[in-house]
Amino acid sequence: METMGTESIKKLLKTETVGKTIYSFEEVGSTNEVAYELARHGAPEGSIIIADSQTRGKGRLQRRWISPPGVNLYMSVIFRPRIAAKDAPLLTLVASIAIAQAIKNKVDDTQIKWPNDVLIQGKKVAGVLTGMQASQDKVDFVIVGIGVNLNMTREMMQKEMGEVSEIATSLREALGHEIEREKFTADLIGELEVWYQEFLQVGKSRIINEWMKRWGAIDRRVLVRFDGREIEGIASGIDENGYLLVKKNDGTMERIIAGDVILL
Ligand code: BTN
Repeated sequence: METMGTESIKKLLKTETVGKTIYSFEEVGSTNEVAYELARHGAPEGSIIIADSQTRGKGRLQRRWISPPGVNLYMSVIFRPRIAAKDAPLLTLVASIAIAQAIKNKVDDTQIKWPNDVLIQGKKVAGVLTGMQASQDKVDFVIVGIGVNLNMTREMMQKEMGEVSEIATSLREALGHEIEREKFTADLIGELEVWYQEFLQVGKSRIINEWMKRWGAIDRRVLVRFDGREIEGIASGIDENGYLLVKKNDGTMERIIAGDVILL
């Protein structure tokens, strides 16, 4: 177990923008917080912030992201796309496609769970947390935070996560051998550049289609918990903002911005 080596990641990179600048830390509160500060001080497009461990790793919906040292990937990317603020959530989809692809190159049974979890055999291996700064409806920068469970063993997950460990996994658990963190990180950075360019050059609809191809719940019956409510229906798709569309039993469509989806 050792700290992530920036130089070995850089040697493996073939990208033009993403990962050209890498800031690596042994321990931070949250790489998203560090990225936010660096972006406010002008860090360039594609800058990456990596930490070996986080003391305040943040998950979606105010949850914690378990971030012990020496085993996983905790990384944030600074993007500066010239897009409207309302389109920024699409970068979360870009990131989940990139993660799913990097993992799918190793494990076949990989899917995306709305909004941005990546699952192996139905268990969560990675998540994305996005934030942004905008002025006059235009994006200044977007911070895409990515956490991937790479080398946590089942015992570690049980110890660190408690009950949540039952719905979590790691790439090591799925493959049965240790993952080279620097190599995986470089592969993921490569995928991020590919899908970011697809988004900029081809557009939103390409990202939404690619995301839906990897989505495990399409046309499945689901229960969705959001805003203190619960609804049941058929997961029909996502709209152009990445919001979930669920067709309810009465035939009407519900559009959900944030929540948890359970397959029925
Ligand atoms: C989720 O699925 O709830 C999102 C998890 C995102 C975790 C990553 S780890 C790197 C970055 N820094 C953070 O504090 N959170 C994200």
